Amino acid sequence: MGKKLQAPRGTYDVLPDDAVRRDHVEATARRILGAAGYRRIETPTFEATELFARGVGASTDIVQKEMYTFEDGGGRSVTLRPEGTAPVARAYLEHGMQKLPQPVKLWYLSSFYRYERAQAGRYRQFWQVGAEAIGSADPAVDAESILLLAELLESLGVRDVRLRLGSLGTPKTRAAYRELLQRYLRDHEDQLSEEVRARIDLNPLRAFDADHPGTKAVMEGAPRLLDHLSAEDLDHFAEVRALLDGADLAYEVDKTLVRGLDYYARTLFEFTSDALGAQSGVGGGGRYDGLIEQIGGPSTPGIGWAAGIERILLAAGEEPVPAPLLDLYVAYAAPEGRATGFELCWEARRAGLSAQFELAGRSLKGQLKQADRSGARFVAIVGPDGATLKDMETGEQDELEPGRVIPVVLKKGKTLA
Ligand code: HAM
Repeated sequence: MGKKLQAPRGTYDVLPDDAVRRDHVEATARRILGAAGYRRIETPTFEATELFARGVGASTDIVQKEMYTFEDGGGRSVTLRPEGTAPVARAYLEHGMQKLPQPVKLWYLSSFYRYERAQAGRYRQFWQVGAEAIGSADPAVDAESILLLAELLESLGVRDVRLRLGSLGTPKTRAAYRELLQRYLRDHEDQLSEEVRARIDLNPLRAFDADHPGTKAVMEGAPRLLDHLSAEDLDHFAEVRALLDGADLAYEVDKTLVRGLDYYARTLFEFTSDALGAQSGVGGGGRYDGLIEQIGGPSTPGIGWAAGIERILLAAGEEPVPAPLLDLYVAYAAPEGRATGFELCWEARRAGLSAQFELAGRSLKGQLKQADRSGARFVAIVGPDGATLKDMETGEQDELEPGRVIPVVLKKGKTLA
């Protein structure tokens, strides 16, 4: 026997009780997003590396440090998807969805992969539920998208949620602001961390994200993008806010909000939960009006978000998982009853009941104990001369032909349900 093997660091197994909770998240997402016209999409687990380099941005942490990239047997560079927006945008383009009525609303619930420092709430394989609305720049799409995530988190019982909202303007305003910020950073270069200094040219906005005390102090006085938006961008942002106000959704305008993906333009938002530790971001997103062009398509607006399933579950707290229902447990009193019992169990399933058969060669006493542990409502003990049906709720017992077991269970089960 070799060394006992374990799941890789930063990954975990979804055990049956966890799967029940995840099913609930999925069903809730399907209900809420489906009611708003979102339809499910699933893209491949891996994509051409270039999609993320161009879509997410070559200067982001994701692309620089966190991707699982490898060469396949044919010598192509492929990457396990670190996020879902670039793949969905690729699919929109590849399948000519610009010909459909716009916006096209798509949602997904999939696994994603980032080589990050693993800790509570941060994994190397994690799951996101996400929603993208592509093809309209109308601020109502932004407001609807944000409200849907708010509703999803509320319906799932995510505690202590806060919403931060910002706007990045269009690439043009951003370019002008970037220069302004770069000038400011250069003027204070000696107080900045090495990492931020090295990125002044590539990605000066990320300086707002830094933990380094000197950098933080410099950033307190830095010019804010929100104060340098164009009149059009400001109007767009004002309309998004007015719609959210109308819907009574509380938020805080955050002038320093930055997110680790390069495709954002205009509206940007993040939901945090104070019930989480250091990894407090439960979901976030924004507008990505330049993304489709970036990956080779025509200029097309889009907005969306993604929320981490693990963080949703962590922030929602543990709800008791209901025991799975079992209508019928089929036991056998003697080896002669085995074949009849096996058949009876299958027939019960065909009749729409949940049924289990003794599979571990237990004694009759052991079988009855197992039936009790499984929470079976009825137990049928099949013997050479017929069957005994026991109602576990009332203790009532009937001797009957094996062929009568299913009709009786169906009838009694119905009257008592
Ligand atoms: P993101 O902020 O990188 O955005 O990820 C969204 C959510 O995924 C986070 O708020 C967090 O809950 C979860 N998450 C991210 N990384 C991890 C991790 N390593 N372990 C556990 N959970 C994690 C995006 O991915 C964008 N595609 C969102 C978007 C959609 N923007 C527009 N459309």
